[in-house]
Amino acid sequence: EENHRESLMIVSGYAAKFFHESLLETEEGQNIGLSYFKERGFTSETIKKFELGYSPDQWEAFTAKALKEGYQQQFLEETGLSVKRDNGTLYDRYRGRVMFPIHSFTGRVIAFGGRTLKTDKNVPKYINSPESEIYHKSNILYGLYFAKKAIRDEDNCYLVEGYADVLSVHQAGIENVVASSGTSLTVEQIRLIGRFTKNVTILYDGDAAGIKASLRGLDMILEEGLNVKVVLFPDGHDPDSYVRLVGTSAFKAHIDKNRKDFILYKTDILLKEAGNDPIRRADVIREIVESIAKIPDSIKASVFIKECSHILEIDERALLSELNKMRLNKA
Ligand code: GTP
Ligand code: MN
Ligand code: MN
Ligand code: MN
Ligand code: MN
Repeated sequence: EENHRESLMIVSGYAAKFFHESLLETEEGQNIGLSYFKERGFTSETIKKFELGYSPDQWEAFTAKALKEGYQQQFLEETGLSVKRDNGTLYDRYRGRVMFPIHSFTGRVIAFGGRTLKTDKNVPKYINSPESEIYHKSNILYGLYFAKKAIRDEDNCYLVEGYADVLSVHQAGIENVVASSGTSLTVEQIRLIGRFTKNVTILYDGDAAGIKASLRGLDMILEEGLNVKVVLFPDGHDPDSYVRLVGTSAFKAHIDKNRKDFILYKTDILLKEAGNDPIRRADVIREIVESIAKIPDSIKASVFIKECSHILEIDERALLSELNKMRLNKA
């Protein structure tokens, strides 16, 4: 079992090296992959640290080389690096994509994200490794290996949406940053963060749809007893594009100025949506109290009740009695 996992990690490490070398040392990799990364503003240091790569735009470049070097078909398939055709032969999953290796907690490569360079809407922007014995998406945070020390030192973890966000923010000198990468945030990921800090700051993309969809998932962080703050970016920006636009110090200033407690942020958004409709406002009040009820620390919860009573323009005692009712129902 451990041998099996080790074999999968060895072939993944080999693949990372293959993609990294094809980025830096082949003409195709330099012309297409490397110039793409440079255009996006990633430095050689970042490319090296995160072992970024390029997969040649051919059907079997990687697979053929790996087989020739003696890597077993079984492990190539299980890691998803190679895909089996009906006739039993293998081809490369990643072709003509820039490659983001995903590292385990201890710095081993366990999976990949591959980004297309095409703008064709029918091509998936990112392809990720399938689940395997070494890669359980729900337990992995992209960038954690490179961020864990800074998360502990800063006693805060920035949570972003994508690979590029992690790279750009890290490169800007803000190293306590990780991404959930594609999947919506899981309890396991939150507990992973919780081993290093109790403070999470969400830096999600500035598109309204994503923000709305994330509201419910974030309650889970409260339940785990973490403090959650949210920072919004101007419409159309994500942390990657914004930090590149304004630079490190203005980026930090934006965070400091716009950091908002999750509960208050959620209250604002829901209230705006409800407008003056009293029934919808009542629903909002219940939903907010529901979120507050998830905070294990009752002193913290009562502070939020007080703040929300102002925003919601409702008597604090009414909110408290609603809170207690919900707590009783839960117990
Ligand atoms: P860039 O365009 O390279 O800046 O990517 P982004 O990270 O800003 O992408 P986006 O905000 O659209 O998505 C955030 C994250 O969701 C990505 O980093 C990926 O992890 C994931 N994702 C985005 N598109 C896809 C997709 O087509 N398939 C899969 N599996 N994941 C995706
Ligand atoms: Mn096994
Ligand atoms: Mn988005
Ligand atoms: Mn982006
Ligand atoms: Mn994005």
